[in-house]
Amino acid sequence: MCAAHDVRADESRDFLNEFTMHTATCGELRTKDVGREVTLCGWVWRRRDHGGLIFCDLRDRAGVTQITFDPEHSDGEAFRLAETMRPEWAIKVTGKVRERPDDMTNPKLETGEIEVLISRAEVLGRSDTPPFPIEDDIDTAEDRRLRYRYLDLRRPRMYANLKTRNDFVFGARKALHELGFLEVETPALGKSTPEGARDFIVPSRLSQGEFYALPQSPQLLKELLMVAGVERYYQLAKCFRDEDLRADRQPEFTQLDLEMAFVSADDVMSAMEVMLKAGFAEVGIDFPAPLRRVPYWEAMERWGTDKPDTRYGMELVDVTDIFKGSEFKVFASAANSGGVVKCLNAKGAGKWPRAQIDKLADVAKTFGAKGLAWIAFREDGSMNSPIVKFFSSEEMTALRERAEVEPGDLVMFAAADRLSACEILGGMRSHMADALGIEREGHDFLWVVDFPLLQYDERERRYTANHHPFTQPFEDDLEKLEDDPLSVGSWTYDFVMDGYEAGGGGLRIHDPALQLRILEFMGISREVAEEQFGFLLEALGFGAPPMGGFALGVDRVCMLCVGSPSIRDVMAFPKTASGADLMMGAPSEVSGRQLAEVGIRLS
Ligand code: AMO
Ligand code: AMP
Repeated sequence: MCAAHDVRADESRDFLNEFTMHTATCGELRTKDVGREVTLCGWVWRRRDHGGLIFCDLRDRAGVTQITFDPEHSDGEAFRLAETMRPEWAIKVTGKVRERPDDMTNPKLETGEIEVLISRAEVLGRSDTPPFPIEDDIDTAEDRRLRYRYLDLRRPRMYANLKTRNDFVFGARKALHELGFLEVETPALGKSTPEGARDFIVPSRLSQGEFYALPQSPQLLKELLMVAGVERYYQLAKCFRDEDLRADRQPEFTQLDLEMAFVSADDVMSAMEVMLKAGFAEVGIDFPAPLRRVPYWEAMERWGTDKPDTRYGMELVDVTDIFKGSEFKVFASAANSGGVVKCLNAKGAGKWPRAQIDKLADVAKTFGAKGLAWIAFREDGSMNSPIVKFFSSEEMTALRERAEVEPGDLVMFAAADRLSACEILGGMRSHMADALGIEREGHDFLWVVDFPLLQYDERERRYTANHHPFTQPFEDDLEKLEDDPLSVGSWTYDFVMDGYEAGGGGLRIHDPALQLRILEFMGISREVAEEQFGFLLEALGFGAPPMGGFALGVDRVCMLCVGSPSIRDVMAFPKTASGADLMMGAPSEVSGRQLAEVGIRLS
């Protein structure tokens, strides 16, 4: 079996050599190739006409090679072509590799020591003048780049981004294959999966008035694959979520989605570390497995977020006890009514002028703050602050010690309930890190684990799932479900990279009675549950194994691997913030006939 497979692989290699249009790529020729006759195919990049000689950089996906047209060495036709050819024409050239004279070498190019002296040339495809230069560093508006995405992708950095994505996924897939995971595809036309976003829906022609939903994730189906005995499943799954877009969110994105049966949370995280290490190795990033595991509340208390960037300090400090008896009523009342007083010490910002510091309150409001009390410790030892007049010298001494205050520091406070105070200062921590230009070197990886099972949705006035409604609660916490629901923990883990949620998962409920109890607690009646995912509840009654899984946000991880601020840079054909594909012109109107076929009338 194996031997036969190897033979086929060799045959296919010969087959490729025989049939390619070119005998070398534009990235591979070196001085060792001097004297070889080669045929190259690629795009005309930069062209320099030196009167009698024409030089051109020929670009393909592998790199760039200088090709030289000299009327004395070419048939007249090749030189004439060189005189007329324009940037981005696709051409095919044949010539001899020769060494460049010493003063003409280009150390910036890998092929910079040689050039190819062309004897024959052929135009394969003429090009209109491109709407923007095909160069890495252009400041062309992104809308224009997206309109001509096929040209945008010709820029070497964009190709490198696609390659990074390919390599990461290749490494991860190989590891999964070796770990015994089976790749199984699940349908795109299905029923709503409750991941918390709005569904994209597709009208059915055959059952008019009925709709499919595109999957927000394959969550329910992968659980069914565990009931089905697959035990280890993975898939590169397209997910669709109709939600407001941001730099790290697209309506259609890719998850490396997995599920395992008969496992503990530890088992899943360990398998994921093997997979992640293999993926990152392919793109030259060291992955220090096993990763730190930080419980949710520790992350919130220390960094004010469940996706902390721990490449810099500026941790939050709890000062509730210091201000319990304070004359500053905002602090004292928070401290005495079950809330907290927390602070953040932004070193260096104490030098800022008052007007600049005053603006921070508006930033804090975007994170839910009612106000932002602060003390600026000036370098001359003085203090500037709207609240310090309320503090006793004992309070000040304790604060200075706890927050490790030095001259030049700006200490900001949040007095609120525990979660809000953490979130406000977490937002300020990241804002201040940007404002102060704090360097974040290398990559930062950790697991955040043990999320609360539930959160309270103020708008809907009910408890909803923090992750999704199929998450396994901590068994020991279940007795608190009715009395103190927010304190019920769950078997969950998020993979955090450089301050982003790059993946997440957990163990699933496999006991149908517990599943119904949790759903009912969240205000989802048995009838609604039956209607939406009765098939899952039914399946859990047929010997469902304990199971758990994970989904990696491939686009996000690759965005971080290439160091881009936008997820769009690692997707071939992404959508704009308003969900449009500017190249295809989607979404677009459809004909009256198409609408009639699916029984839809537009008002
Ligand atoms: P979750 O909803 O956390 O989990 O998604 C997993 C990961 O997918 C990425 N992601 C996105 N990437 C780009 N654009 C988006 N709109 C977007 N939304 C999510 C994130 C996120 O960490 N079924 C569960 C997983 C499980 O429990 O196994 C799920 O979908 O990187
Ligand atoms: P006030 O007494 O309302 O004028 O507030 C005095 C200072 O405390 C102002 O700088 C407010 O922005 C700030 N402040 C008000 N409420 C809070 C709060 N909950 N947490 C932190 N600072 C606050």
